[in-house]
Amino acid sequence: MPKALITGITGQDGYYLSKLLLKKGYEVYGTIRRSSTINTARIDPLISEYEKEGKLNLIYSNLLDPSSLTNILNTTQPDEVYNLAAQSHVKVSFENPVYATETSFGSLGLLEAIRNSDKQIKFYQASSSEMFGGVTDGMLDLNSDFDPKSPYAAGKVFAHNITKIYRESYNMFAVNGILFNHESPHRGETFVTRKITRAIGRIVNGIQSKVTLGNLEATRDWGFAGDYVEGMYLMLQHDKPDDWILATGESHSIKDFLKLAFGFVNLNWEDYVETSEKYYRPNEVHDLIGDASKAKKELNWSPEVSFDELVKMMVDYDLNLAKQEKVLIKENLLQPTWENYIL
Ligand code: NAP
Ligand code: GDD
Repeated sequence: MPKALITGITGQDGYYLSKLLLKKGYEVYGTIRRSSTINTARIDPLISEYEKEGKLNLIYSNLLDPSSLTNILNTTQPDEVYNLAAQSHVKVSFENPVYATETSFGSLGLLEAIRNSDKQIKFYQASSSEMFGGVTDGMLDLNSDFDPKSPYAAGKVFAHNITKIYRESYNMFAVNGILFNHESPHRGETFVTRKITRAIGRIVNGIQSKVTLGNLEATRDWGFAGDYVEGMYLMLQHDKPDDWILATGESHSIKDFLKLAFGFVNLNWEDYVETSEKYYRPNEVHDLIGDASKAKKELNWSPEVSFDELVKMMVDYDLNLAKQEKVLIKENLLQPTWENYIL
């Protein structure tokens, strides 16, 4: 039975990837961070299903603590390591720049731990389209230059480069997946897509009146996270290590997203959306669109879920969630603090 170690298993992609690998029969080890409140909500259903039989195992760790990484590799001896851990919010990275970049620098500690324990372990690094800094001419591909525009993106460029350096220097199976934005009902609630669909659910259920956003003109190449983790897995099954882009090749503005999402509940987004400088970034990545043709050709990967299906999936999920919240609020079991988002 193959063994995989996933850093960042409690995040959106950690949930979809662990679900995929567990279904494929992997024994999965995931790193979690100690926090004052329990942070395993996304993977709780997987824990109930797989923990008892020892298929899913959680271990405390932090990318900022290399000793924890060495210990985990020695005790779990995985075949594959998926390094998904990051402070992944671009705007927060301007506010916590050292922490955000240091976490990406932590990838080096993980690569070193692999090099010193077992160079046969395959390594996946979660690289990002943010590294490109935006579109200058046509679609972004593997020949496009990096021009990071945030501490987050600068940290990711470092992790990307060091992964390639370890591949070339030590003959390690280390790959970079340069992924464009991917979303889902399990997306963090302060990313723009989920912030919008959460607000729609609450507006329809009468527990929120409006939503305040930042730059509505930016465009993104949005896909479904469930499709993208399949691509991560395929990269580690390829016969040789390399870098690949995963993207849909389509881009839409925040306004397009709003129009479609509010349209599904027959509301006009302009009646519910305000903008505030508070949500603008010191430096913006205006437009992103990616060319995933290499992944299609070499990995036989292509996204299954369309933009419309993705938005509908998120709106439906959040309508249902808000309906449940409404019941809890009525029974005084939940405080309606929704509009106090800080980002
Ligand atoms: P996410 O939901 O924000 O999850 C991030 C995960 O990293 C969480 O499990 C988090 O733990 C963990 N983490 C944060 N700092 C850590 C640290 N210092 N040590 C150990 N773990 C730490 O992000 P995601 O959307 O799943 O993305 C997964 C990865 O892909 C990230 O590296 C992200 O930068 C990258 N990426 C994402 C996208 C996208 O559109 N989603 C696109 C390109 C690249 P807690 O739960 O305790 O916070
Ligand atoms: N978060 C947020 N909140 N973004 C807003 C808002 C708002 O209220 N209003 C407008 N935006 C705009 C941002 O300025 C940005 O142009 C766009 O919406 C998308 O923002 P996010 O959803 O926060 O995602 P991101 O593109 O900055 O970063 C995500 O994708 C990267 C890949 O390109 C993250 O998942 C990164 O971790 C990932 O690397």
